[in-house]
Amino acid sequence: MKTKVCDQLGISVPIFGFSHCRDVVAAVSAAGGLGILGATTFDPDKLEIELRWLDEHLQDRPYGVNVLMADSRTEGAVEDLERMIPQGHREFVERLNQKFAIPPLREDALSSGSIYQNMELRSTHGWARPQLEVVWRHRARLLVSALGAPPPDVVDRAHKLGMKIGGMTGSARHAQKHIAAGADLVIAAGNEGAGHNSDVATMVLVPEVVDAAGNVPVLAAGGIGNGRQIAAALALGAEGVWLGSIWLPTAESDLEEGSIEQLLSAGSHDTVRTKSWSGKPTRFLRNPWIDAWEERDAPEPLPTPLQRMLIAPSYRRIVAARMTELMSIPVGQAVGQIRQRQRVRDVMLDLQREYLDAMTRLNSIQSVT
Ligand SMILES: Cc1cc2nc3c(=O)[nH]c(=O)nc-3n(C[C@H](O)[C@H](O)[C@H](O)COP(=O)(O)O)c2cc1C
Repeated sequence: MKTKVCDQLGISVPIFGFSHCRDVVAAVSAAGGLGILGATTFDPDKLEIELRWLDEHLQDRPYGVNVLMADSRTEGAVEDLERMIPQGHREFVERLNQKFAIPPLREDALSSGSIYQNMELRSTHGWARPQLEVVWRHRARLLVSALGAPPPDVVDRAHKLGMKIGGMTGSARHAQKHIAAGADLVIAAGNEGAGHNSDVATMVLVPEVVDAAGNVPVLAAGGIGNGRQIAAALALGAEGVWLGSIWLPTAESDLEEGSIEQLLSAGSHDTVRTKSWSGKPTRFLRNPWIDAWEERDAPEPLPTPLQRMLIAPSYRRIVAARMTELMSIPVGQAVGQIRQRQRVRDVMLDLQREYLDAMTRLNSIQSVT
């Protein structure tokens, strides 16, 4: 399964594993793939701790970091942005707080390092820049930006430090923007996948992006939970695959036990694409909080980053009160294929075994005709 990106990044299999959990990231890289730490939730101090840990644990093995760099128009003082949130939206959220009996936040409920602090600004350049100052001090080999291409100085700095640049994209047009901005690879994130994704299904998006990307390698993301789908992605022209959902219930994952149980019993129909989290369409496991935003009395979600600012206080209360049934878990339709809690290493081995079986089957079809 060795492809061009394996040589480019010094890995043995072109399986990229996205996670906010450093143990998962390290385990993917240790198993021959490339783990990418989703840094969005970390303030610079916490990110420093995570990257230092990865440097120490992975030594020569490569890993990557993912930051959100949304349109820089979203930069601005929190107070200015707060004023842009309509009163009607605030009242709707307050009605939800009451409907679901979400308890008020105790002062000590969330530690200062909690990933649920500072949720409001996570997609702005203002949030990403200090994170990047930390990234530069560490050994990440790949810097991936989501929701927008990084500015030229960021690309230059990364390249000078020997890092490759990757861009998450949901369309051929955005892939070309990333490439024009200096991306060394692009990740085509199709509609089936967790988190922010495309209006277009992976099966259609990947060949479109491959055709638009020229010589720049493309990774397929969204809906891949089995080696058969890796074979399909490579057949579509991808040089590798980027997986997110599959790691959530692994033994190394730091996800809440209750959330893991929900995921293991969920089917492929149980996810929903909603703007109610960040203002941009994002795929989550369906839950009553998300469903409430689809009801007739619900206002249209606000643009990024206002929607996140609007719901952040309620979400912190949900997390602090451990209301698992309302915690929004980003997950893709591949959740229906994930049935057991396994170690990352075993997931990686299964994916490769399934890929080989699929290739054997394809080759046998070819030889019959
Ligand atoms: C819990 C979770 C959080 C995610 N957060 C981000 C993120 O912060 N930035 C990003 O670029 N992608 C994020 N993603 C999306 C992944 O990078 C990836 O595109 C997606 O998971 C691929 O589809 P799959 O879930 O079907 O494997 C997230 C995915 C998951 C499962």
